[in-house]
Amino acid sequence: MENNENMNSIDNRPIGFFDSGVGGLTVLDKFKKVLPEENFLYFGDTKHMPYGEKSEEELINFADKIFKFFETKNVKAVVMACNTTSAVTYEKLKNQYNFKIYPIIQSVAKILASENYSRIGILATPATINSHVYKKEIAKYNPNMEVVEMACPEWVKIVEEGREKDEESEKFISSRLAKMLWWGPEKIVLGCTHYPYLLQNLSKYTERNRFIDPSIHFAQYIKDDLTKCGKLSSGNKGTEEFFVSSSPENFVNAGKMFYNIKTSPELINLD
Ligand code: DGL
Repeated sequence: MENNENMNSIDNRPIGFFDSGVGGLTVLDKFKKVLPEENFLYFGDTKHMPYGEKSEEELINFADKIFKFFETKNVKAVVMACNTTSAVTYEKLKNQYNFKIYPIIQSVAKILASENYSRIGILATPATINSHVYKKEIAKYNPNMEVVEMACPEWVKIVEEGREKDEESEKFISSRLAKMLWWGPEKIVLGCTHYPYLLQNLSKYTERNRFIDPSIHFAQYIKDDLTKCGKLSSGNKGTEEFFVSSSPENFVNAGKMFYNIKTSPELINLD
């Protein structure tokens, strides 16, 4: 009875969305298609990227400040679009705010685990790989799936600085991918939101559909959960506002491959 009542109710407050920079735009892009009536507030912590090379203490501190910022905006939920923060901070922070937090890795692991692959690869930041959260979460649902993990330092900076086409960048990208391909995984998960920007580079070395962008599953998961909790919006225009902690212009330029940012990002100092 209660569930049915929930499913019929609506909540038109915005959803907070965050990542270290432009990476989360690859996720937002999918969310806009699946949840067209939601209003989003996107925070890109460009001042502190790359997150993948930060300590747990630093990452908790950044995430906490961003969550407190979202509290002032009266959001109904926050999407941790960032794999690194989901891996390193979610367990510590999940019950500390007055909204539900959705972490990308823990939300998509069950769906990845339900696919019929014997071996999959995970490409992610050093912090995500060191946490082994992808491996642990997938093992909860499918202990027989072999998960091969590979850290890709530098890739995030290549994206944030728009250096995808440089020769030097190509070497960084191809050498890490070659190591992963050596393991022969059937599918390779792009376990960092910045990596879909590199798909053109990556698909020179293996077929494009070998890569999985987990944000597609993530968007559907959240739609289902918001529906279940009676928190979907209805009749909203599907607006978005952007906030960054440094260099709004770089954010717009680096992000344009995935997102047409129509409103100027607001510069916010949370330190
Ligand atoms: N894009 C984020 C992730 O999904 C973090 C990248 C970074 O800043 O290192 O892990």
